[in-house]
Amino acid sequence: MSSTEFASGTTPPGTRDEQQASRWVERMFARIAPRYDLLNHLLSFNIDRSWRKVLLQRAAPVLGNGDARVLDLCCGTGDVLLDFQKVAKARIYGADFCHPMLTATQRKAQNSGFDALLIEADALTLPIAENSLDLISISFGFRNLTNYRGGLAELYRVLKPGGQLLILEFSHPSSSFVKAGYSLYSRIVLPLVGTIVSGSREAYDYLPDSIRKFPQAHQLCELMRVAGFVGAEFRLLTGGIAALHAGTKSAVFVL
Ligand SMILES: C[S@@+](CC[C@H](N)C(=O)[O-])C[C@H]1O[C@@H](n2cnc3c(N)ncnc32)[C@H](O)[C@@H]1O
Repeated sequence: MSSTEFASGTTPPGTRDEQQASRWVERMFARIAPRYDLLNHLLSFNIDRSWRKVLLQRAAPVLGNGDARVLDLCCGTGDVLLDFQKVAKARIYGADFCHPMLTATQRKAQNSGFDALLIEADALTLPIAENSLDLISISFGFRNLTNYRGGLAELYRVLKPGGQLLILEFSHPSSSFVKAGYSLYSRIVLPLVGTIVSGSREAYDYLPDSIRKFPQAHQLCELMRVAGFVGAEFRLLTGGIAALHAGTKSAVFVL
């Protein structure tokens, strides 16, 4: 499959266009928000924490810069945002289009003694001026965008020249052993446990389906290059179950 052949964005069941898909995703996350953290750690056997640590390490040089502005996009209940805030000198913002997720982030931030700078916005139309951010991280949110090219173009717009994009996302295991185990897990265990704990069958049917349709890591890197990012690269995590993708907005303006 070439980088131009896979899904152009997420396609939840029963939705006919990007607007319907976006509303479906937002409502689905609103329904599972109260149980999101529990399910996240339970269903990933806490491995998600180690994946977020890799993201944190990669972001560390920018986080340590007191003049930098960093956005954790699709911040959900704020795990990455709070990890960043604990170590950052940079100014950290969080954005998500799902209000209950932002409420959960606010509560967690307050409990940890932070003031979270939160923006309720769609990743495809950010209320942020162009060339204003030094780093954007998105963990497990990009897959849910209804237009991957549109999303990358918007992130490119708001990043400063030289600014970095880090996308942590589910990917596709390469070894047949990991692939077989993961396929069994995501088709049977994940929907079953997810449905019992969250009460939402559709959310945990959607999750494995959206992962299956999502581009492979090298394909996402190709999309990033096409959007203008230079040095696009990826690192597979846990046998390819997840991957960290990185790219930089070109610092050179061609006149
Ligand atoms: C799977 S959660 C990930 C949350 C968090 N980043 C984490 O690592 O746990 C995906 C989040 O992306 C948000 N999201 C999905 N599509 C979005 C969009 N178009 N604009 C803004 N947020 C979006 C959802 O509301 C949800 O909170």
